[in-house]
Amino acid sequence: MINDTAAKQLWIRETVLYHIYPRSFQDSNGDGIGDLQGIIDRLDYLNDSSNESLGVKAIWLSPIFRSPMVDFGYDIVDYELIDPVFGDMATFDRLVTEAHKRGIKVLLDFVPNHTSTQHDWFKESRQDYNNYKRDWYIWKPPKPDGSPPNNWLSVFGGSAWQLDEATGEYYLHSFLPEQADLNWRNLEVKKHMLNVLRFWLKRGVSGFRTDAIYNLIKDAELRDDPPNPAYRPGQDDPYDALLHTHSSGQDELSGTLANFCEILGENSDAYLVSEAYVDIPEMIKLYHACPDHQIHSPFNFNLIGREWSAPSYRDFIDRFEGALDPNDWPNYVLGNHDRSRLVSRLGSNRAKLLGMMQLTLRGMPVIYYGEEIGMQDESIPENQQLDPWGRRVPGFGLGRDPERTPMKWDASKKAGFTTGVPWLSISSNHATCNVEAEKDDPNSFLNMYRTLIHYRQRSPGLLTGRYESQNCGNEAIFTYKRICSDEILQIALNFSNQPQTFEAEDGTLICSTHADARAPDDNKIFLRAYEGQVIQIYTAKVSKILGKK
Ligand code: GLC
Repeated sequence: MINDTAAKQLWIRETVLYHIYPRSFQDSNGDGIGDLQGIIDRLDYLNDSSNESLGVKAIWLSPIFRSPMVDFGYDIVDYELIDPVFGDMATFDRLVTEAHKRGIKVLLDFVPNHTSTQHDWFKESRQDYNNYKRDWYIWKPPKPDGSPPNNWLSVFGGSAWQLDEATGEYYLHSFLPEQADLNWRNLEVKKHMLNVLRFWLKRGVSGFRTDAIYNLIKDAELRDDPPNPAYRPGQDDPYDALLHTHSSGQDELSGTLANFCEILGENSDAYLVSEAYVDIPEMIKLYHACPDHQIHSPFNFNLIGREWSAPSYRDFIDRFEGALDPNDWPNYVLGNHDRSRLVSRLGSNRAKLLGMMQLTLRGMPVIYYGEEIGMQDESIPENQQLDPWGRRVPGFGLGRDPERTPMKWDASKKAGFTTGVPWLSISSNHATCNVEAEKDDPNSFLNMYRTLIHYRQRSPGLLTGRYESQNCGNEAIFTYKRICSDEILQIALNFSNQPQTFEAEDGTLICSTHADARAPDDNKIFLRAYEGQVIQIYTAKVSKILGKK
């Protein structure tokens, strides 16, 4: 059970974390690209302290720093400057102030693994072998036949090594050739990057999402990665041809994460979430990396791509809950700027059901902008996509433009996102899938998200209750309780495309995925296809357990 009194970063336990991809949230100057002023203009939507707003208390922003934008901001030339496309430092400071006025914390994206090759550090490093900054990046001579130093692959296609003609050596890039990997075994690099964290903490940010953490530390001897026996050539992403046992996920990562946490610990309130697509045992290692378990958690991406069935979800959540230490705070991510949107992967009904699950499990729900209105991927032909991943590795559906299209605020032609030409096209269904249209529709995604987010914030059961999965005797339904001394809730999620009825404790219906839900009656719960219900079966306020004991 969570040791609530010892919990320091209480805010992280009370909020959903809302992920904004700044290019696509709101454009304020008509250039077709979202910006910081646009985010300020939409803060009331996120939280104006009324039930009309979403009720979000923390946002994280994908990178807003000075960048040539080859990877749309994940290739940074200056970690301490705002890119002009997004605004300037004064606007950033105003964003923090305005967010704080509304009770919203701001987290930034920290990209420690690589800089842009346009960064001054890299420009110096590539000058010659003896340059002071040579060792800030990972340089190696070719093999005798001129080929790259080892077999490591870039996530974004091809070898992870790029030959630099000037000195005849290769440099390592786990992602694009324009994103050179920093050498985290060099103490100067570490010092400078840790200062980046301090810089933004001083400006009032409440933490960071840390990019590509698993790639940070590489095998000191740069040994070849072994082949992946499960790889299916032609069908799987070519990056999966190898197991990345030497090029990522090294044990020394724990020490570096602990260093990040030390810096965050200098600030009473800061939190770190790190990006690592790993299973439960590796996640637990990452939780344990920070001596103070309350400052850091790895993102939990394990629900993305999970087999669709109630037992499969129950199994994962039971195992995850069982593996966590008392002070580890779980989180659940259903989508982000790198993965096809939830609705496009699963369809609207299933997506809404998972939204309910995410908002009623123990832990921090992480919502990717637009998920709360059921936004889907835009279909953009591969040859028109801007994302370098899709262009470098065509034919595998890897391009990420479809899930990065502009937020849909209203039914107008440009969905209220911009007055100019949007940098990515606005999805075809924006006439019905938008904030304005969904605000007053009791059956909308937005209404369910809003209702549950606000309910969570005053529900002792959802905020602090323990999680207990139940076996209701029906494999189509995933049921669990959230239990604390002041409230008990039962959540019932019908994963099947058929109506289901089952015997349960009587209670009060708090929320359904379906506006015309049938309330529990005579100790029975009635669920339509893909319906989910949140039922309060006990509340201390009326001091009684309703229904069966
Ligand atoms: C992370 C980001 C992704 C980016 C990559 C390289 O995976 O989420 O968008 O392209 O790192 O920085």
